[in-house]
Amino acid sequence: MTEAAKTARDSLTEMTELVLPQHSNVLGTAFGGTVLAWMDVCGAIAAQRHCHRVAVTAAMDDVSFLAPIRVGDLVILTARLTAAFGTSMEVHVEVKVEDAQTGHRTRCVDAYMTFVNIGEDGRPSAVPRLIAETAEDERRQREAQARREARLARR
Ligand SMILES: CC(C)(COP(=O)(O)OP(=O)(O)OC[C@H]1O[C@@H](n2cnc3c(N)ncnc32)[C@H](O)[C@@H]1OP(=O)(O)O)[C@@H](O)C(=O)NCCC(=O)NCCS
Repeated sequence: MTEAAKTARDSLTEMTELVLPQHSNVLGTAFGGTVLAWMDVCGAIAAQRHCHRVAVTAAMDDVSFLAPIRVGDLVILTARLTAAFGTSMEVHVEVKVEDAQTGHRTRCVDAYMTFVNIGEDGRPSAVPRLIAETAEDERRQREAQARREARLARR
């Protein structure tokens, strides 16, 4: 049975990572793949908090790294559900880098990711409805719908 509808606040997820030498390349900046893996985990936690089941990554939209992330920096990841469709959910994952000395945060990467709720039979399963609490939430849902159509047309 599909669970009750939820808000984006119910599944909002924040994660903090410390960039260690093993996360970095020879320039002392974080590997892009490591940051993508953190984004995948953060987005999946938000998706799983919404549907209370295992959610697999179906797609990750365009990703650009706007600012370097250095060894010793803190990486703050925030994942927010923007829409729930039939069996899939769109999650916006934003990454900011926090200078450990000053605390100043700089936006570094963001991406829209699609996760699919997997039922006990191993097949995609219906997700709870996402309640829009604000006009901003409604706008996010409308924009997510447009992105979904473009994404599925490319599939
Ligand atoms: C994602 C996956 C479950 C879709 O399975 P499928 O048999 O194609 O199922 P469906 O066609 O019924 O699609 C299920 C949902 O996924 C969505 N979907 C499938 N491919 C998608 C894509 N490329 N982008 C966005 N959504 C996608 C569909 O729109 C549908 O969602 P909806 O019910 O909200 O409309 C399947 O392709 C899979 O298991 N992929 C591997 C996932 C994985 O292992 N990820 C980890 C990285 S290796």
